Amino acid sequence: MKDLIRTLTEAFGPSGYETEVTDLIKTLVEDYVDEIETDVLGNLIAVKRGSEDGAKIMFAAHTDEIGIVVTHIDDNGFLRFANIGGVGVATLIGNRVRFANGTIGVISREKGDWKETTLDKLYIDIGAESKEEAQAKVNVGDFGIFHREFVDLGQRLVAKAMDDRIGCVVLIEALKQIKEPKNTLYFVFTAQEEVGLRGARTSAYRIDPDLGIALDVTMTGDTPEARRMEVSLGKGTAIKVKDSSVIAHPKVKELLVKLAEENGIPYQLEVLEAGGTDAGAIHLTREGVPSGTISIPTRYVHSPSEMVDVRDVKACVDLVVALADAEIDIN
Ligand code: CO
Ligand code: ZN
Repeated sequence: MKDLIRTLTEAFGPSGYETEVTDLIKTLVEDYVDEIETDVLGNLIAVKRGSEDGAKIMFAAHTDEIGIVVTHIDDNGFLRFANIGGVGVATLIGNRVRFANGTIGVISREKGDWKETTLDKLYIDIGAESKEEAQAKVNVGDFGIFHREFVDLGQRLVAKAMDDRIGCVVLIEALKQIKEPKNTLYFVFTAQEEVGLRGARTSAYRIDPDLGIALDVTMTGDTPEARRMEVSLGKGTAIKVKDSSVIAHPKVKELLVKLAEENGIPYQLEVLEAGGTDAGAIHLTREGVPSGTISIPTRYVHSPSEMVDVRDVKACVDLVVALADAEIDIN
């Protein structure tokens, strides 16, 4: 599983440009599913058919990652940029950006007070000496991601884009284990979550599921002077109660808790005060879809060094596998 996490987290996939990631996932899962296709927005939809009396479950894990888009190149070859998704200034300076063609740049800032440093005071240096030299490598409108390699710390793993390639890994690992499910399972590797849950919106409309489950990272409260939160790394899968995009359907939350308890899967209840997931879009589709989220506890979310615990990832896989055969009766 660690190799899979390395491969997926190191892939290039800013919102809207997820094809490197979806192509990789397609080759990994196509032998395990009955149908697989990509839609207009770039969602990869893999279907595993169940029995006739089963329900239709949509699982969503997003393939896109936060990044930047080039807005301007000055005469000396320095790039200015805007954010793609939730990008914090504090995580940027000294970090590196990678573009689709492999060009690497360093992020730095203009002089001035740290407290007043906003995105428009930052620039990217790709080592060019002139605008022309820069334009030979990068142009206005090009998307970049934060360049960082995967690190294996043993039980804990660090990488960029754990948000939400780790959710994709959970779905892939579950798919490999599920043979003949009772329920029909739609594994959707969604596009453009970081810019507003966009891929989940169109794919949920198309699938019209009986139950929607997002797989995504959540924050933790277990680091020095952390914002108070009852989720820790290593204590199991996190079953969401609410975040700012969704209040999990009480029966969905109860079902997930019941399945975790019946199967001996370690879990924690999650209340995330700020942030959302694809469940925010799924539950508002058509006349409404009962929805919930299985979260992977993650430290340093939206930094280039997001940390997860392998035991939690496995607990999330086990809970997805348990849902495949669960009795779904929610309205
Ligand atoms: Co995110
Ligand atoms: Zn995410």
